[in-house]
Amino acid sequence: MKVLVIGANGNTGTRVVKHLAGGVHDPVAMIRDPTHRAKFDSLGVATVLADLEYPIDHAVQNCDAIIFAAGSGGSTGKDKTVLIDHKDREIQKQYRHRDSEVRQEVLFQVASDIGATPNQVILAWLTGHGIIPITGASTPQQMSESLAGFDLTLPDEILSRLDAAGAEQQ
Ligand SMILES: NC(=O)c1ccc[n+]([C@@H]2O[C@H](COP(=O)([O-])OP(=O)(O)OC[C@H]3O[C@@H](n4cnc5c(N)ncnc54)[C@H](OP(=O)(O)O)[C@@H]3O)[C@@H](O)[C@H]2O)c1
Repeated sequence: MKVLVIGANGNTGTRVVKHLAGGVHDPVAMIRDPTHRAKFDSLGVATVLADLEYPIDHAVQNCDAIIFAAGSGGSTGKDKTVLIDHKDREIQKQYRHRDSEVRQEVLFQVASDIGATPNQVILAWLTGHGIIPITGASTPQQMSESLAGFDLTLPDEILSRLDAAGAEQQ
């Protein structure tokens, strides 16, 4: 799968690119400064120049998946935080495939079936697969919600249902 990594030059993005480059997928590093190209050239990873403040259609073209790891950084004002850090929602709506929609439908159905929030189900699904997620929260309520997700153990039947979601579209 060709995976566009947005924010590839950052701490998180670079780790993601390296991880993907060592596996079966084919990462494409989205960078906004051409001087960052050399780092990815040395990893044998393709780059595309694009800035989230402008259209990124050319970068998304021919990619099968997008990983959003961009952030405006702590030194910018709230306007940039909203513009950049929240751009993932816009991108998700604009470019999502039918399999993403199927996954979302199953996620919401599972959450409703077991009386949890979708966020809690995602965290429990990750921990159920031995992955330790890093969770973020803007309010104490969000942190309480996430912590409850870590306490949730999904039965095998639900894990399989989530694993299978959208697989038929791939
Ligand atoms: N690091 C963590 O432990 C952690 C944990 C939880 C959540 N997060 C969140 O994950 C996100 C990334 O964190 P990070 O530590 O990897 O941040 P980072 O090192 O500052 O990297 C952010 C990346 O976003 C890119 N970027 C900023 N504005 C952009 C724009 N307009 N267009 C395209 N790219 C743009 C930057 O590009 P340049 O390289 O060109 O500046 C940089 O590569 C942030 O939202 C952060 O809050 C991080």
